[in-house]
Amino acid sequence: MDMKKMAGDKAAEYVKDGMVLGLGTGSTAFHLVNAVGELVKNGMKLKAIPTSKATEAQACELGIPLLTIDEVEHIDLAIDGVDEIDPQFSAIKGGGGALYREKVVATLADEVIWIMDESKLVDQIGAFHLPVEIAQYGSKQAMKKMEEFGFHPVLRVKEGRTFVTDNGNFIADLHLGAGFDIEDVRQKLGTIVGVLEHGLFLNMCKRMVVGTKDGVKVIENPAK
Ligand code: 5RP
Repeated sequence: MDMKKMAGDKAAEYVKDGMVLGLGTGSTAFHLVNAVGELVKNGMKLKAIPTSKATEAQACELGIPLLTIDEVEHIDLAIDGVDEIDPQFSAIKGGGGALYREKVVATLADEVIWIMDESKLVDQIGAFHLPVEIAQYGSKQAMKKMEEFGFHPVLRVKEGRTFVTDNGNFIADLHLGAGFDIEDVRQKLGTIVGVLEHGLFLNMCKRMVVGTKDGVKVIENPAK
């Protein structure tokens, strides 16, 4: 079976009646959203907040009742994919460009589950680029600052055009290399005007649900 589907299906087992649920974005979250659609079809009462326009469209199609982020007081559970995660539960997200909404939703959630195939588990994060959402206005200035910090930023391009997020912003992908100094990068990004959010999701999840060749594995975070 598809390892991403295994993870998405397993994570849906944590969804309970009456929950307000954060729905992630990407090819793994796609399977989760389908599984949640099944739960709703079978009578489960829940409400969901999508983390992207793509997930919103999929959830609408499946008849999952949706709320907007400013309609909720809190979120019970957020389930989303990751691009890389290390044994300390430090993750990079935003490969699909939805990191801002994903971080807003995960931060509001009582509990977070990251779903993935086993290729996402790494000893040290950073081989995957670190996505950073930046304002269009002054984006060259923000890029220059990131260049000066040695972050090797590349403005994301998709299908020959500068990629624009669901929020109308650009994405700078930082090429930092595995084992970069996470705290230093996080702190320096915080000093750049025009940086709206970055794809570092540090120790946020309660558990990882990982699809592997040998079946699905659940890894609990002892710190949560
Ligand atoms: C989107 C994300 C995704 O969750 C991340 O890129 C993983 O995607 P996939 O499940 O397709 O590998 O952060 O912004």
